[in-house]
Amino acid sequence: MPAIILDGKKIAEEIKKEIKAETELLKTQFGINPGLAFILIGSNPASESYVKAKNRACNEIGFFSITEKLPENIEQNVLINLIEKYNKDKFIHGILVQLPLPEHLDTNKIIEMIDYRKDVDGFHPINVGKLVIGQDCLKPCTPAGIQELLKRYNIKTTGKHIVILGRSNIVGKPAANIFLQKENFANAIVTIVHSSTDDITKYTKQADILICAMGKAEFINGDMIKEGTIVIDVGINKIPDSKSKTGYRIVGDVQFESVSKIAYAITPVPGGIGPMTIAMLLSNTLKAAKNILYANN
Ligand code: GUN
Repeated sequence: MPAIILDGKKIAEEIKKEIKAETELLKTQFGINPGLAFILIGSNPASESYVKAKNRACNEIGFFSITEKLPENIEQNVLINLIEKYNKDKFIHGILVQLPLPEHLDTNKIIEMIDYRKDVDGFHPINVGKLVIGQDCLKPCTPAGIQELLKRYNIKTTGKHIVILGRSNIVGKPAANIFLQKENFANAIVTIVHSSTDDITKYTKQADILICAMGKAEFINGDMIKEGTIVIDVGINKIPDSKSKTGYRIVGDVQFESVSKIAYAITPVPGGIGPMTIAMLLSNTLKAAKNILYANN
């Protein structure tokens, strides 16, 4: 049987509707409109298109948003001053500095300068620490989106073996921490496979749920998984395609055709985890706005 398609696009639309309704209530009851500041440095085309998509989603659901486009050679202290300005801005509840940053900037330092209550990426060490010890916090959007997608399809993870490919601070490590927590739709046995793993197939074959986030186009094929695996494809890779008008097409880290014959369920690319990531960013911004409101009342 062909795999069930886990339709991230459709679920993200449902979540956006829910957030829009809650946002309208927040506006009428408290006069608060969630606000998000995007900081985009340089002219990386992928970063530009991600920020554009995130900004469009804010407009769709009625959030206030602002995009600061800064030159590639911006000095670190100028960027820090801008972050501090938004830390103090009462109309802004979320600050997102799009990564990666140019080499001369200290990414860790920049993330630490964001008020952790406005860190809608969930990258600040305070949020990372809270996530690890199971406290309420703003969680990184991509792994939170994976968990939410599984939840909405009622795919239980307790006692399941989740194998994660990739150990980035954005996806792999926070995904491991989310799925380790002793709670529903987590409580899993987690393995992280990375660039120093010799026999990757040894681990991918053991996965009940496989999360592919190593950024290698169509790396995982049908021979690398066992029958009935749930496959989550986080990859967004451009590959040349002479048949396409643009000369390229977007593929994930998974060879969809061979894997979808073996897997029980699979996320498509595009239309899988990408839209869920954006939905979680909106959800985090709403949460940040509510937290700040309740803290001040
Ligand atoms: N670059 C790639 N993914 C992300 C993300 O989720 N947040 C930020 N800020 N930068 C990214």
